[in-house]
Amino acid sequence: MARIVVLGALGHIGSALIRSPQLIGTGDELVLVDDLTTQRYASLFDLPSTGRYRFVQGDAGALVGSLVDSSVRAVVQLAGASDPGAIAADPALAMSGNLRITRMAIEACGTAGVPLFLPSTTSVYASSGTGLTEEAPVAGTHAYTECKLEEEALLTNAFAQGLQGTIARFGTIVGPSPGMRFHTAVNRFCWQAATGAPLSVWTSALHQVRPYLAIGDAVSLIAQSITSGTWLDSVVNAASFNVTVEEVIASISRVIPDASITRIDSALMNDLSFSVSTSRAAQAGFTCSGTLDAEVARTLALLRGIIPGADTQGSPHA
Ligand SMILES: NC(=O)c1ccc[n+]([C@@H]2O[C@H](COP(=O)([O-])OP(=O)(O)OC[C@H]3O[C@@H](n4cnc5c(N)ncnc54)[C@H](O)[C@@H]3O)[C@@H](O)[C@H]2O)c1
Repeated sequence: MARIVVLGALGHIGSALIRSPQLIGTGDELVLVDDLTTQRYASLFDLPSTGRYRFVQGDAGALVGSLVDSSVRAVVQLAGASDPGAIAADPALAMSGNLRITRMAIEACGTAGVPLFLPSTTSVYASSGTGLTEEAPVAGTHAYTECKLEEEALLTNAFAQGLQGTIARFGTIVGPSPGMRFHTAVNRFCWQAATGAPLSVWTSALHQVRPYLAIGDAVSLIAQSITSGTWLDSVVNAASFNVTVEEVIASISRVIPDASITRIDSALMNDLSFSVSTSRAAQAGFTCSGTLDAEVARTLALLRGIIPGADTQGSPHA
């Protein structure tokens, strides 16, 4: 029986991926590896009965070598610290955590001849502009992006030696999943609006355009890569839409009209404003369909029980 190994399977992206009908439809055993650092036990609740699952609790870097052999269809490396703010405060989280896990995954996949899917981030881009391609300048401006670029370099080097795989530079993920987190822009704003707090917008960010990726599109990209065996052996941008923070706030305000904002400074703040090109992804057959309004509405609908004035049977302020 074939297997698909998902490292960091209980996180925001992983908890949606492991429920993907496309992945489940392969009939493969889905091997879910997570050390529960972030305590997302709930990601394992109510898994589809059609799925064949095995959960392995522990450090993904230590385990991946023993889990990957030639019967594995693909490995997806989602494990590690994902909060840029926490990583800025403790860079070792990324360098001795994420980078180590990715190195071990590359080694295991290389030995067994198994493709590897690695998400990176569009935050590595270092210039403003419209439709930045994968060749646009990049820079490790803080520990999170520095680590991502090192992971990209390790895997790119492995591609040159024959390993198959894809490095997808994901826009900020928007939309809900069973193991979702609320530390990234849109999700955090939804949480703040739902709890009656002002939306904490970085001082220079209101008019900055940035790329976002709907959770469903992230899952489709990974699942389609695996099921179709489409490996680009390179970096590819993944974004559903490019919008300003102002547009995000407008979208939330359509659901919660009295949402207010407060401006804050952050060490992660920069003046860049950019959208990314998704032509390379489209050429490979990967398309996105998620929209900002739909993902915001889906997220706020989950929280409607705590939104003052919400109709608990329907949408907030429906
Ligand atoms: N969420 C986003 O907006 C976004 C955007 C771009 C790229 N990415 C990247 O995608 C990947 C997954 O992101 P996410 O949002 O699902 O993150 P997440 O933090 O929600 O999930 C990570 C999971 O890894 C687990 N984990 C941590 N250390 C581990 C270890 N040593 N061994 C095993 N498991 C471990 C955690 O318990 C958690 O369940 C990350 O590399 C992240 O940088 C995420």
